[in-house]
Amino acid sequence: MTANIGNSAGVVINDLNLSFGETHVLKGVNLSIEAGEFFAFLGPSGSGKSTLLRAIAGFGPRPTGRILIDGEDIADQPPWKRNVGMVFQSYALWPHMTVHKNVAFGLEERGVPAPEIKRRVDAVLDMVGLIDLAERRPSQLSGGQQQRIALARTVVVEPKVLLLDEPLSNLDANLRVQMRREIRDLQKELRLTTIFVTHDQEEANTTSDRMAVLDEGVIQQVGAPVELYDKPSNLFVANFLGSANVLQGKMSVGKDRKCKFQSENGVAINLGAQPPNEGAVVFRPQNVRISKAGTNCKAGNVQFQGTVGHMEFHGNIVRYGVDVSGHLILIDETHQRGSVLFDIGASVDLQVKQGQIMVVPGH
Ligand SMILES: Nc1ncnc2c1ncn2[C@@H]1O[C@H](COP(=O)(O)OP(=O)(O)O)[C@@H](O)[C@H]1O
Ligand SMILES: [Mg+2]
Repeated sequence: MTANIGNSAGVVINDLNLSFGETHVLKGVNLSIEAGEFFAFLGPSGSGKSTLLRAIAGFGPRPTGRILIDGEDIADQPPWKRNVGMVFQSYALWPHMTVHKNVAFGLEERGVPAPEIKRRVDAVLDMVGLIDLAERRPSQLSGGQQQRIALARTVVVEPKVLLLDEPLSNLDANLRVQMRREIRDLQKELRLTTIFVTHDQEEANTTSDRMAVLDEGVIQQVGAPVELYDKPSNLFVANFLGSANVLQGKMSVGKDRKCKFQSENGVAINLGAQPPNEGAVVFRPQNVRISKAGTNCKAGNVQFQGTVGHMEFHGNIVRYGVDVSGHLILIDETHQRGSVLFDIGASVDLQVKQGQIMVVPGH
C-alpha cells in the first residue's frame, strides 16, 4: 500500500476579512479545523466558499486576519510553499502526458529521485485503482477516472492539507455518489486534513466530520452534520440543510410555566417547557404523521387540522402539502406497499411529537 503519505496539519483561521475592490466578500471568518479532519464549506453559490478556500491556498487578494497551518502563520508564503494541495473542478490534467507522467510531474519538479518517483506514483495509482491505466492519456479515461487522477496527482506530493473545490460537479449523479465515497475512504486512509467545498447539502452531510455553513461571506454555524440538522442556530441553516416547515409567531408562558406558541395565522402549538430562545417554530416534513380527520391526538404530540392541497408520489415517500389555517405544511410519509394515499381536498389530521419541534432564532 501507500508509503507514508500523511503528516496532516490543522488549519486555524482568525478574524479573516477579504475584499475584491469595494466588495467585502469574507466577513470576520473564524474557524479551527483539526488535523486529519474532513471539513466541508457548505453554502449557496456566491457565499464565499471558493474565496475562502483560495485564501487558504494563497490565491486571490490578500486577506486581513490570520491563517495558520500547523500553527504557522502562512500570510507571507506563496501558494507553492504552503504545503497544501488543491484539486480544481476542471481537473487541469495535461492532455499530452500519460496518467503516470501526470501524477509524476509534481515529484519531478521537486527533484525527487527517479526510483522514488516510480514507487510513489505506483503506490498512489494503486490506491485509486488505476495502476492498470498508467500508460493511457487523460482523453482515454472516463470522467470518474480523470477525477481519480487529479486526486492522485495532488496527494502524491504529500500535502499537509487537501483542498477540494466542488470536485464532483462535472460528474453525473450516480458517479458523484460513488466518487464522494471514494474521496471519503481515501481521506480516512491517508488521515489527510481535507477541506471540501460544495453547495450540495447531501454531499457535505455524507462526507464531512464537521462543516461550516456560509451565507454572504459569514459563517452561520459550525458542527457535525447531524448537529446542524437537529439544532440549527438560525433559519438560514435550518432551511439550507433540508426541507423545513417554518411558522412565525409569538410565544407566551402560562401560569403553569408551560410555553405556548401562537402562529401568525392563529395556530396554537404547545411547546411544553420554555425553549432557550425566542424564534420561529420549525419541524421537518418527515416528522409529521398524516391521518384522516378525527384521529385521536396521542399524549405528547401536537395536532393540527388541515386540508390536502397537493400530493406527490415519489416512490420511497409520498409528499403532501397540507393547508393549516393558511400555512402550507409539508409532510413526507414513508410509503408502505398498499397504503392508502390521501386525495387533494381531503380533511386530515397532522401530528408532530413535541420533541421534533425546534425553536429557531430568525425571521
Ligand atoms: N475575482 C473576483 N472579482 C470580484 N468579485 C469576485 C471575484 N471572485 C469572486 N467574487 C465575488 O465574491 C463572492 C463570493 O464568490 P465565491 O467565493 O466564488 O462564492 P462560492 O464559491 O461560494 O460560489 C461573489 O459575490 C463573487 O461575485
Ligand atoms: Mg465556488
